[in-house]
Amino acid sequence: MMHYLKALLFAIVSSVLIFSCDIMNKLSTVSSPDGSLSVTFSLSESGNPQYTVQHGEEQIIDTSGLGFEFKNLPPLRDSLQVTSVERRTFDETWQPVWGEQKEIRNHYNELLVSLKETAEPQRVVHLRFRVFDDGFGFRFEFPAQKSMADSLFIMEEQTEFALTGDHTSWWIPADYDSYEYNYNETKVSEIDASEFADENERVDRQIGNFNAANTPITMKTEDGVYLSFHEANLTDYAGMTLGVTEDLKLVSELVPWADGTKVKTKPPFSTPWRTVQVSKSPAALAESFLLQNLNEPNKLDDTSWIEPMKYTGIWWEMHIGKSNWRLKEAAEGSFEDQGGSKHGATTENAKRYIDFNNRADIKGFLVEGWNTGWEYWGADSVGFFDFTTPYPDFDLKEVVDYAKAKNVALVGHHETSGQAAHYETRLDTAFQLYHDLGIHHVKTGYAGGVIPKGEYHHGQWMVRHYRKVVEKAAEYQIGINAHEPIKGTGLRRTFPNMMTREGVRGMEYNAWSEGMPPEHTTILPFTRVLSGPIDYTPGIFDITFDEYSDGEQVKSTLANQLALYVVLYSPMQMAADLPENYLMNNGNLHPMFQFIRDVAVDWDASHVLDAKIGDYVVTARKEKGSNNWFLGAVTDENERTIEVSLDFLDADKTYEARIYKDGQNAHWQDNPTAYEIEIQEATADTMLEIGMASGGGTAISFEIK
Ligand code: NOJ
Ligand code: CA
Repeated sequence: MMHYLKALLFAIVSSVLIFSCDIMNKLSTVSSPDGSLSVTFSLSESGNPQYTVQHGEEQIIDTSGLGFEFKNLPPLRDSLQVTSVERRTFDETWQPVWGEQKEIRNHYNELLVSLKETAEPQRVVHLRFRVFDDGFGFRFEFPAQKSMADSLFIMEEQTEFALTGDHTSWWIPADYDSYEYNYNETKVSEIDASEFADENERVDRQIGNFNAANTPITMKTEDGVYLSFHEANLTDYAGMTLGVTEDLKLVSELVPWADGTKVKTKPPFSTPWRTVQVSKSPAALAESFLLQNLNEPNKLDDTSWIEPMKYTGIWWEMHIGKSNWRLKEAAEGSFEDQGGSKHGATTENAKRYIDFNNRADIKGFLVEGWNTGWEYWGADSVGFFDFTTPYPDFDLKEVVDYAKAKNVALVGHHETSGQAAHYETRLDTAFQLYHDLGIHHVKTGYAGGVIPKGEYHHGQWMVRHYRKVVEKAAEYQIGINAHEPIKGTGLRRTFPNMMTREGVRGMEYNAWSEGMPPEHTTILPFTRVLSGPIDYTPGIFDITFDEYSDGEQVKSTLANQLALYVVLYSPMQMAADLPENYLMNNGNLHPMFQFIRDVAVDWDASHVLDAKIGDYVVTARKEKGSNNWFLGAVTDENERTIEVSLDFLDADKTYEARIYKDGQNAHWQDNPTAYEIEIQEATADTMLEIGMASGGGTAISFEIK
């Protein structure tokens, strides 16, 4: 009996102990709704907040510390205690204004840990974890408090992700200004960008740490789990890069201000969400909506003017050197002479494109080089673009009217040359002009060193700027396609007029550099595109553009170019080649153009059917509000045949499948334009063999018969 009482007493004491341990928050676990993913919060002996992550049986993040360093304040890292722990479950389904699928489920379990310093000044910070079936995010929330009442200067955020192995990773350098790099596939321990050191000679490139990467950075563990590290809801904070330590920890390295401060703020404020998407296949990674779910719902009342569309443009012709952005001679110190001597954006040339659009059913038409100032583009002086004065050989009003009469919508263009501060002074006037002309899409650009001098494209000053432009554009009912942007972090949910962005080594590089290897587009859906829509500008038909090329070419076949409209998601997709290359000698549209004409840009459903990162991708999407499906498949430099099931099609229907594929002996280098078009019946029971040439691809449209 005595023995029993003792045991009981011991049990009570130990459960109290466990309970009080929990109160002191030595350990708190929060799992995903399906239980597959668990994040455990704990405090170290010294009172440092840390966490670990378990996926099924596998530990995927080892003990990782969290903390901050400030200017003029002691660091916030140790001597913290937990004052409360709150839990919550959330489940909603929401409809994006446009996107990859009709409905998105936002389902997570949340753990909110409130922390307070044990010693003076007893600062308070909350740590909020959200765990989804497809990954997790956490952020710090600083409530208003006396000891941080004035400005707070963050000098370092010490968020760690301790890896549990030397995973295979797909990465680009941690350039503070640019994401325009080819992806590298290496072990994490081999992340080393020193071969790009020369890039730092440029005013618009800055790699601070060669053993670091920009996000999203994607990895595969030995057990075949995929992890992608990024951030969500980047608002009034610096962009985050990830440094790699010798013991395989990824550590946040924020892009600095010109004065070295990382973030200038004042409580109350929250950091962006630090996110890890976790999945057992590349497909599941690409079908995760975690980033958008960690952003706030749509803030725009009226979205009727937001229109996804395909567009052509006076654009590629400048990049290959057929014409130029500027009208007169280039000024001293401006960007090296790209493009030919002829001005591209003339009224006459614009009308030629508009006629083509009308004929080919392409709604949007971009004009670059329409406004004065391009002679100075890249020069070290400020204010040469006013964004409102057309060159004398371009009659803006006449072009807009001509376009309207032909059911074509102009896409405006604001190249800032990096002069963001100047652009802000011109924003209202510039957007007002487009608004008055009924223009609802504007491409922005920041090709040049940022002014204010010393700021970086991905630092807090520019993060604020990019956001200001999106919000201002919304006031004028304008959708934004940003080039040289800050990376996407799911903001499109809150501001659906933030339509697409570059932030990638896109097609232009094929025009004037060694370009991208064929594998590039098999990596993008699982890295860059995880962060949001991509203005990759596909659709080049004259692959080698011999008339203008010094050996440059697009490293893909023609059929591969078509597949990109499905493989690389964007609500604005360019048909980037010259009108003359989309027309046959007899004046008819090129038979392969039919796919670009038909393919949708807004979807009810999207599925990656099969993929191996760096080797191939097969994606199928269902057009919004229709029964049509489209499939795109691309391969790297290896030719291959992939068998896919068409079980995504409606079970009781028969479809006509139009297959646009590589021709006999097609090859990206020797024979890039050989193609075949085949029409066959397809049902949900069909197993389809997709054969692709080296650098090749296949595009298919499915229509119910
Ligand atoms: C770089 C952009 O990526 C490209 O699309 C544009 O044509 C030039 N800047 C000029 O604005
Ligand atoms: Ca660019």
